[in-house]
Formats: sequence, C-alpha cells, structure tokens
Amino acid sequence: MGLSTLKKTILYCGILLHLLPFLPCFSNGFSLPSNFLFGIGSSSYQYEGAYMSDGKGQSNWDNFTHGPGRYVIIDGSNGDIAVDHYHRYLEDIDLMEALKVNSYKLSLSWSRILPKGRFGKVNRAGINFYNTLIDALLLKGIQPFVVLSHYDSPQELEDRYGGWLSPQSKEDFAFYADLCFRSFGDRVKYWVTFNEPNYLAPLGYRSGIYPPSRCSGSLAMLPCKGGDSEREPFIAAHNIILSHAAAVGIYRSKYQSEQKGMIGIVLQHEWYEPISNSTADKLATERARSFSFNWFLDPVIFGKYPTEMEDVLGSVLPKFSSKEMEKLKKGLDFVGLNYYTAHYIKDCIYSKCKPGVGTSRTEGSYQKSGDKNGVSIGEPTPFSWLNIYPEGMEKAITYVRNRYNNIPMFITENGYPVQEDSNSTMEEQLNDYNRIRCMRNHFEAMLETIRKGADVRGYFAWSLLDNFEWIYGYTIRYGLHHVDHNSLRRTPRLSTTWYKQFIEMHQLEWKYNNNTSKAFEL
Ligand code: BGC
Repeated sequence: MGLSTLKKTILYCGILLHLLPFLPCFSNGFSLPSNFLFGIGSSSYQYEGAYMSDGKGQSNWDNFTHGPGRYVIIDGSNGDIAVDHYHRYLEDIDLMEALKVNSYKLSLSWSRILPKGRFGKVNRAGINFYNTLIDALLLKGIQPFVVLSHYDSPQELEDRYGGWLSPQSKEDFAFYADLCFRSFGDRVKYWVTFNEPNYLAPLGYRSGIYPPSRCSGSLAMLPCKGGDSEREPFIAAHNIILSHAAAVGIYRSKYQSEQKGMIGIVLQHEWYEPISNSTADKLATERARSFSFNWFLDPVIFGKYPTEMEDVLGSVLPKFSSKEMEKLKKGLDFVGLNYYTAHYIKDCIYSKCKPGVGTSRTEGSYQKSGDKNGVSIGEPTPFSWLNIYPEGMEKAITYVRNRYNNIPMFITENGYPVQEDSNSTMEEQLNDYNRIRCMRNHFEAMLETIRKGADVRGYFAWSLLDNFEWIYGYTIRYGLHHVDHNSLRRTPRLSTTWYKQFIEMHQLEWKYNNNTSKAFEL
C-alpha cells in the first residue's frame, strides 16, 4: 500500500469512528439513493419580511396581522420583518451550505410576484428576487423545492371575489402557476402547488383563526364578521383542489417534457390510532383520516371525494363534473407529507364526546386525544397537541403507500418546537438535544419504510431558522438556527452539527456502496 493510500484509509476510518453513534442507519448494505433529498424548509410569510418592499402587494396574512389577527396572534406580532430572509438570503444560503443539505423547500410570495393577481402587472422585482435566490442556491448545489402557496395569497383576490370561496380563484392560481413555471421552471425540478390546504380550509373557514377569518356558530373560535363553518371549508377546499388540477394541467401540457420536473401537493399528515378495538372507534379513525387527509388526496388521485365524506356530508360536499373528475385523476407526481404528531381517535356518533375539534357532524364526528387512560401516545412535550411518536411517521408513510399505490413521497416537514423562555440561557437554547433525538428517531422510522419498499425520496427538516410561527408569533422556535429577533443574528444550534454529520455519513455511504473497491483499495 502506498503512503497516500494509507493516509486516505486512516482518514476514512477516522471519520467513520467519529460517526459511530450514528451507525444504526448505516447497516445491512442498505443505502439511500444518491439523489435522495436531504433538505431544510422555510416559507415566504414566515421568513421573508420586506412586506411592502419593491412593489410587493398585500397578502392575506399582511391584511390579517394588521387587522383582526392582531388579537389572535399570541404576542401581537406579524411577518412585516419576520427573519428578513428577503435581504439576508445569501447569508442563509451560506448556512445551508455549511449544513450540507442538497435541497431547500421554500415558498414564493404570490403577492410579491403578482401584487394584484391576474388583475395587475407582474412585479419584475419579485421575479428578479426569486431568480437570484434560485441561482444562488444552485450555485451551491442546493436544489430549490418550490411551493407556490404556503397559506399566503394576494389580498386583492379576497377583496375582489372572496378568494378561495369563488371558482374564479382557479383562474388566478393557474395564471400565477403558469408565470412561475415559465420564469423559474428551467431550474426548478420540484414544484408544490399548495402547502397544507387541509389546514388552511378548516382554520380559515371553520374556526376562523387564520385568514380570511370566516366562521359561524359553535365551530367558530373568533367573533368572525361572516362565514359558514359547516359549508365554507368544503367550498374553499373544492376550489383549491380544482386550482391544483389546473396548475398541474398547465405544467404537464406546456412545461414538463422540456423542464423535466415533478409536481405535487403537500399535506399535513397527523397519524391516527383508534382509542379502542371497538368497530365504532375503528370506523371513526377511518373517518378522521378521510375528513383530514384523504379529503384532498383522493380527489387528486382517484378523481373523487372519500366515500366516508360523501356519506356524511351529502349535498354539503361540492360535486366534481365528469370532465373535472377525469382531469383530476393522477393529478400529481408526488405527495409531500408534513408529519409532527399522532392522536388517538374516539367515535362520537355512538358515544358521547365533549365538544371540541372534530366532534361535530360536518367535521366527521370523532374526538382526538393525545393519551389513552392517561398514557400518552408518544413522548409528551410541553405542548398538549404534540406527542413525539416516530412510529406514526412510519405508519403514515405505509398508509399512503398502500392507499395510493406507492406514489413517490417526500417528508416535506418534520421538526421540534421549543417554547420561548426568557429565563433560559443562550447555551440552553443552543443545545437542542430533544430536537436531535426527535429528528433522528423520525429519520430512522422513515428509513424503515424505505427498506420495506416505500418510495420516499427526501426528508426536509423544519426549519432552517426560528421564524414567525403563525398565531404563535415569535413565541415558538423551530429553527436549527437560533434567531435573535431583535438583531436578527443567526446562531447554529447543536442540531446543525448533528444534521450535517448525518448527511455526511450518508454521503460516505453512497460512495462506499457505489465504489467499494476504490474506497478500500488496499
Ligand atoms: C406548517 C408550517 C409551520 C409548522 C410548525 C406546518 O404545519 O406548514 O408553516 O411552521 O407546521 O407549526
């Protein structure tokens, strides 16, 4: 063996030893494909700030946080500055480069690109911003994974015709999507139409705690100015589904063969387990899945709403025409899953439930609970809605695999929140062991599904930075980097070191598995 080969071998073994604690994933000759996406995520309203700069129009979230939302958002804050990603994106890309991620899930601000939807001019400054951002990412070998709408849309569309409640919204979304594919599609290979429309519809149109803040009756959580909590979530969802189909149609007919990208949708996929073995609770669990997840995915894959929803909702559920049904079928190339937690489900048709989210007839008549007889479904956290249950991710992926014929999947969000605590030291804030454990256990659960044949192609940690956490304002921190919300200084947490090493280990694994003889040429 030559001296340089010896040196290389020692170096290689040294790295492996250093990574020993992570070895369980590096086993049985199994390795992830080299194009697996190790990513990190953000979204426009939560990150960009610059809310009225360079020709940007008002979004629904700008309007909400400056209006009634001020009283809903825990710390009364807004995304006017957020984490100033609009001005600091180069610094943020350097952070991603140091992290070794090969992809970045970001969303475009629709109102930055089309301040008045299709009723006004294209804002060239907006197009330029995203062009520069995309180019800067690619220069560092980071694939942009681009979401067209992560809860935000131009306020103009709300004012003009009632936003998602109007079928006209489809024309606007199609116009916007076409412009984005035309402007950025030569470099963007992963497109998402919507992030979590299955959250947007109930929060914006049932409880009313997200814009456009519409609600009524006992399901209302705010004194909304107008709305119909029993019907409007389904109307908004219907128009969103048709808007998704319109964008996919445009991408497939005009761009996909040349640009060679994929297009999908991202849904929140909370995992549900029946609270007992009773048939009623098992059926309620099926209903809960249908009313919260299959609600969107069945139409865009099978061209129809889930039977459970049709049975319960009857004429409340809008209908697709036969032409629309045909257009909808197989209307995506992949599904993005945002997975955080799991719940037990109890039936509320045959047994009594306390009033709460899910229990009414139009929500599906089920009650969610984080524990069974006082024992939590996963590891409890300070947040009542969050139990860490990595097996739930495994089950959620397997469910999608089985129901939707192993459609390609990405884990588009997974992360761990920490409550803002002014008494904690900086050191405590940076040593985020719980986050590391949470990410690592979920990653393991995901790997298990891949080993068994699920077509999962990427994992995105949420989130690159602490940011504006919707109605929680800046009181909850999800970042792998801590952000001082006064100076906006970014500081890496321990989880960045872990994630970087984890990614490096898999890169070594690729090299090893694809190049065994070279790696060990002794
Ligand atoms: C949303 C993110 C949010 C995260 C943590 C997801 O449902 O897509 O915008 O920050 O959850 O709450």
